[in-house]
Amino acid sequence: MSVLVVYFSFEGNTKLIAEKIRETLNADMVELKTSKKYPTEGLGKYFWGGKSVVFGDKPTLTNESIDLSRYETIIIGTPVWAGSFAPPIRSFVNDYKIKNKRIAIFASHGGGGAVKCFTKLKEALPENKFIGETAYVEPKKNPESIDNAVKWASGLL
Ligand SMILES: Cc1cc2nc3c(=O)[nH]c(=O)nc-3n(C[C@H](O)[C@H](O)[C@H](O)COP(=O)(O)O)c2cc1C
Repeated sequence: MSVLVVYFSFEGNTKLIAEKIRETLNADMVELKTSKKYPTEGLGKYFWGGKSVVFGDKPTLTNESIDLSRYETIIIGTPVWAGSFAPPIRSFVNDYKIKNKRIAIFASHGGGGAVKCFTKLKEALPENKFIGETAYVEPKKNPESIDNAVKWASGLL
């Protein structure tokens, strides 16, 4: 079964999990990249990142076009930003009319949880079948996240 992992990661936490899931499932993987750069330092990053979520920004993706028809299952990874998914994920959902896929989602967050983020992402992707969701607190600081991600991915398909 063909599986694609698609993720955005600003500071490497979601990336760490994405790589483990890709490895576990022998999946293809795409890291979403944008031409717009968010500030990475100080409070500015929360301000600009949070504002872009609130305003529903869809930054332009610089990735090559992805042929989603090759995949039955798509695993989407995002950091939680302002309680929701990060803007590049909104761009991905907007650019690709995703239908009739099996979708699993994972998120990294700072401790605020990902329930609202998952609800919003599911709302943005109607007409698909959701097969799983899981969230991790700051995986770079919590290595047990890696084991949990491997277990989650192993039980997914
Ligand atoms: C703009 C911005 C907004 C954030 N908002 C939240 C939030 O609402 N809740 C939360 O638990 N963590 C929040 N965080 C923390 C990130 O979700 C957390 O650090 C995550 O592990 C980052 O993943 P990444 O390294 O893949 O970018 C926010 C971080 C940024 C930069």
